[in-house]
Amino acid sequence: MSPDLHAEARRQIEICNACRYCEGYCAVFPALMRQTVFADGDITQLANLCHNCRGCYYACQYTPPHEFALNLPGILAEVRQDSWERLAWPAPLARRFHESGVALAGALIVGIALIFLALTALRPASGEGFYAYLSHGAMVAIFAPAFLMPLAAIGVALGRYWREVGGGALRLRHLRAALGDAARLRNLGGGQGQGCNFEIEDRFSDRRRRAHQALVLGFLLCFGATSAGTVMHYLMDWPAPYPLLSLPKLLGVPGGMLMVAGAAGLVHLKLRAERELGSARVWGGEIGFILLLGIVAATGLALMAFGGAVWLALHLGAVLSFFLLMPYSKMVHGFYRLAALAADARAREARGSADAAD
Ligand code: HEM
Ligand code: SF4
Ligand code: SF4
Repeated sequence: MSPDLHAEARRQIEICNACRYCEGYCAVFPALMRQTVFADGDITQLANLCHNCRGCYYACQYTPPHEFALNLPGILAEVRQDSWERLAWPAPLARRFHESGVALAGALIVGIALIFLALTALRPASGEGFYAYLSHGAMVAIFAPAFLMPLAAIGVALGRYWREVGGGALRLRHLRAALGDAARLRNLGGGQGQGCNFEIEDRFSDRRRRAHQALVLGFLLCFGATSAGTVMHYLMDWPAPYPLLSLPKLLGVPGGMLMVAGAAGLVHLKLRAERELGSARVWGGEIGFILLLGIVAATGLALMAFGGAVWLALHLGAVLSFFLLMPYSKMVHGFYRLAALAADARAREARGSADAAD
């Protein structure tokens, strides 16, 4: 835990707790108003609850040059980033990849090179489509651990987070509430649903929310396409390649297009926004992460359109890099934010019961 970061965040949070002007903007303010004393774990939780919409910064009368020098989105972004790096397992990897887009690009190149090696060394005697280059067994042997090991590392990190913030006994209803808030990205809505002013001070817009939802929906469709392909392969004895009017393609093509459009929208907004209202230290790593998602989708579409060993290696290398980097890149934000929303749903419920008992 970084004492300086937490001390500065505590100073700013205490000013907000006295002021309360931004009460209706997002879940952070009601959460901080439920308390008067803020332990380090409480600050970590508030930081992960913040969606970095920046509405409170642009509304605040105490931002620099005022002597209070408030920048709540900025300090919460720093604390949030610190928690992702500190709680990751193993932690040193996280710092490197979060901070640098160059490290992400390097990992992508290594991932592609590994897939090229596999393509040449593990080429099957027969097969169609992808399987003319890499057998199904080899593909599963590479990707099953590459998917499951990062998920295990994220599980360890989330356990550490839950203990640090004192999350308590989680129920299904808390998780349902969290998923509902995440699906609508309620905390990027600016309080009245008018949208956030992420990239321009006085313009409220839903662009960031829409770009994010396009990317996530696309991601889920692509995940659905891969799952449909797996079911068709194992349960229906129907291996790839699949025709255009089949579930893997009907889900995968719009999914890939939505991912590319969402990633382009997020990069565009990020280039226009003020860096010091986020964690400026990791700006390069964040851009690298969005580009990696765009590359995963774009190479998948190209593979479908043109086929061939080169597009296959580029696509599988990008997917491999994405999976392996999940615990050490911005991808962890979804898991931590879900955990923070669930902990908040639980805390609201506990507060409601305490009020009813009084
Ligand atoms: C559990 C659900 C999720 C929640 C609650 C969530 C929430 C957010 C929020 C609030 C932001 C903006 C603030 C920030 O920059 O940190 C964001 C950014 C982003 N999210 Fe998510 N997200 C979720 C899942 C996902 C998934 C599944 C993907 C992609 C596969 C994704 C990709 C991105 C990208 C690319 C950005 C932009 C990063 C940036 O501007 O630096 N998110 N997310
Ligand atoms: S961000 Fe500024 S205006 Fe908003 S509650 Fe905090 S001190 Fe008040
Ligand atoms: S930046 Fe947005 S989400 Fe974060 S505390 Fe301020 S108003 Fe809430």
